[in-house]
Amino acid sequence: MVPSLSSILATAFLCVNHAFASPDQATLEACTDIHTALPGKVLTPEFLALEYEHETQQYWSTALRSVNPACIVQPSAAEDVAAVVKVLNKYPSVRFAVRSGGHDPNPTHSSIQDGVQIVMTDLAGATYDADKDLAYVKPGGEWNDVIKALEPSGVAVVGGRLGLVGVGGYLVQGGISFLSAQEGLAADNIVGWETVMANGSIVNVNANDNPDLAQAMRGSGSQFGIVTKYTIKPHHIGKVFGGFCFYDDSQDDKIHAALHDFTANGAQDPKAAVIFSQLITLGGSKLNLIFTFYDGPNPPKTGPFANILRIPGIACFPKTRSYSDLLKTNGDPAGILNARVSFRVNFNPETLRPQMYKEIRDKLAEITAPFLNILRPTSQFSVDFQPLPSIIGKISESKGGNAMGLTGSDPDRIILEIQGSWLLASDDAEAYSLSKQLTDWLDLQVPQWLAEAGMGSQYLPLFMNDAAGDQGVTDSYKDAAKFRALQKSVDPNGLFSTRAGGFKYR
Ligand SMILES: Cc1cc2nc3c(=O)[nH]c(=O)nc-3n(C[C@H](O)[C@H](O)[C@H](O)COP(=O)(O)OP(=O)(O)OC[C@H]3O[C@@H](n4cnc5c(N)ncnc54)[C@H](O)[C@@H]3O)c2cc1C
Ligand SMILES: *[C@@H]1O[C@H](CO)[C@@H](O)[C@H](O)[C@H]1NC(C)=O
Repeated sequence: MVPSLSSILATAFLCVNHAFASPDQATLEACTDIHTALPGKVLTPEFLALEYEHETQQYWSTALRSVNPACIVQPSAAEDVAAVVKVLNKYPSVRFAVRSGGHDPNPTHSSIQDGVQIVMTDLAGATYDADKDLAYVKPGGEWNDVIKALEPSGVAVVGGRLGLVGVGGYLVQGGISFLSAQEGLAADNIVGWETVMANGSIVNVNANDNPDLAQAMRGSGSQFGIVTKYTIKPHHIGKVFGGFCFYDDSQDDKIHAALHDFTANGAQDPKAAVIFSQLITLGGSKLNLIFTFYDGPNPPKTGPFANILRIPGIACFPKTRSYSDLLKTNGDPAGILNARVSFRVNFNPETLRPQMYKEIRDKLAEITAPFLNILRPTSQFSVDFQPLPSIIGKISESKGGNAMGLTGSDPDRIILEIQGSWLLASDDAEAYSLSKQLTDWLDLQVPQWLAEAGMGSQYLPLFMNDAAGDQGVTDSYKDAAKFRALQKSVDPNGLFSTRAGGFKYR
């Protein structure tokens, strides 16, 4: 066979000289075509190699930092992304991935071995239009930068609670925020998505022109298109109160009772929010970490939130501060984590069962006990309890609805995130299975707890931002069939549904 001109160019451009290089010919040709369309914006192991190497390290989980794409493209405008998608359409066998912050720890969701990696590094930043009271947010960068850029205008957008988290993936997956009991999920506040669709056209998706697509964009992940700009209705904000506090296990009973009370009654004061993290470390040691937030300089002195603040901690930092300072500080403890990471999620109603908080933590401690031994001194697991009061569904519905299908008739619920971290690749299979053992156990327990509480069966969709790739997140959505049909209609050749990783309607 006579090699085509493009394959010669591909070989020349990539000068693939290592014996084990495995990107196939079509992928190398696609990389060359993208390089031709976007000179200076394509990195390979040989061309702009240092920057290529730097981009491969921008993942939260260290497990993803050894993934080597055939090429990495850094678009700096929607038109650049459109050019890449048009090339991908010419090469139907080539796989690709889109990465914004790289915090999704699931393999293949925002990384791709030997494929085309699109990164949003050069599509970052946020601005505010006071006349329209709208914020424009780009997907690259982190929440710290977005909140800092908007703060001088007295506005924030509903977004991450730890400032170091990425923006683009968070917003397509849904996103729970400290502001959610006032404003709904982060995605509920998006009114426009500048999106590169599967056919390479740039569409301004919005609820007026296309309400179904707008609803689908709020929590379906990456399957409808690549978002290059979000238009968001902001939340007006001044000084806030908050920070994190560590507690030893002598406070367990008080904490569990206060959290139960907050989850069931906290929405009476929607300015208050908490994340309650129960950590398990070496030898089964237990540590409690609570992030508190109040949207105002002075938190209340009575009620469920005040009761949480009164529990004595061993190291406590909540105070009155700017919102940007709060988010930045909240990310500090997590920022030192440099490990392989897993997320897994369970969605649980507040079942009038205060002992549930302890039972779930103790079950995780039992499951992880053989793993958290002296051979893995820095490894840790946690179960994070994130209250999702019914009021959030009510707000979601009033703002047009999201893919998760939250509504005002939902009960108070809790998103449980089971997080694990460890150092060695040889521990991957075992570590992933530990979180799964906990969700398998919960799948059996929750129906029993519901029956005991006389609550019957409940709609319990999984929360995408915190989920493991093998969890059927979109299958758990009540309108999955509608969104599956919509996905097929805007992506008939399956560019996003079959050629990139992530959660899919199947
Ligand atoms: C320390 C930490 C704190 C967190 N805190 C919160 C929290 O408070 N609330 C919460 O809800 N979640 C939280 N998360 C979870 C977080 O929302 C997800 O990990 C999310 O995926 C992060 O977004 P990202 O841009 O970093 O994702 P990435 O890993 O870059 O992408 C995730 C997915 O989205 C897709 N994607 C990314 N950008 C785009 C785009 N522009 N267009 C289309 N698809 C895109 C990717 O292809 C991938 O499938 C936290 C995670 C971490 C690690
Ligand atoms: C591309 O797809 C979008 C979404 O389905 C559609 O609105 C648009 O008309 C299509 N453009 C072309 C040129 O086919």
